[in-house]
Amino acid sequence: VPALEQEAENASIGQGVVESNHAGFSGTGFVNYNNVAGSYVEYTINAEAGGEHDLTFRYANGTTVDRPVSVTVDGASAQTVSFPGTGAWTTWQTRTAKVTLKAGPNKIRATATTANGGPNADKLTAVLVGPPDNEAP
Ligand code: GCU
Repeated sequence: VPALEQEAENASIGQGVVESNHAGFSGTGFVNYNNVAGSYVEYTINAEAGGEHDLTFRYANGTTVDRPVSVTVDGASAQTVSFPGTGAWTTWQTRTAKVTLKAGPNKIRATATTANGGPNADKLTAVLVGPPDNEAP
């Protein structure tokens, strides 16, 4: 099963803007979350098979303060993912969370939990890491 991914700039954005002023992003830019709790990026990952996946978020945080987000899959199974400082807005790193996806489209929403908003978001990659529990229709 190949890796699945979506660029943040192609995802659904709630309170954020697409920018390209900090080098090192993939695709055509990244999302700058508004600096408020509740701002989000919602990715759609079309899984070939259901099962446990690693979700890898590529991001930059040029501050020294963590910018945690709450990650949900189709509105459920919330877990908090930490996005600590990367040293510069042009230094991009990754953080990974484990989630169960179903075969077909999954809405992965990453919502800022603090008034600082989320980190600058580059892309999300999903890789099946457990046994596939079904096949996409
Ligand atoms: C700076 C930076 C932005 C970043 C913002 C923030 O303005 O240039 O890319 O999103 O800080 O703190 O969120």
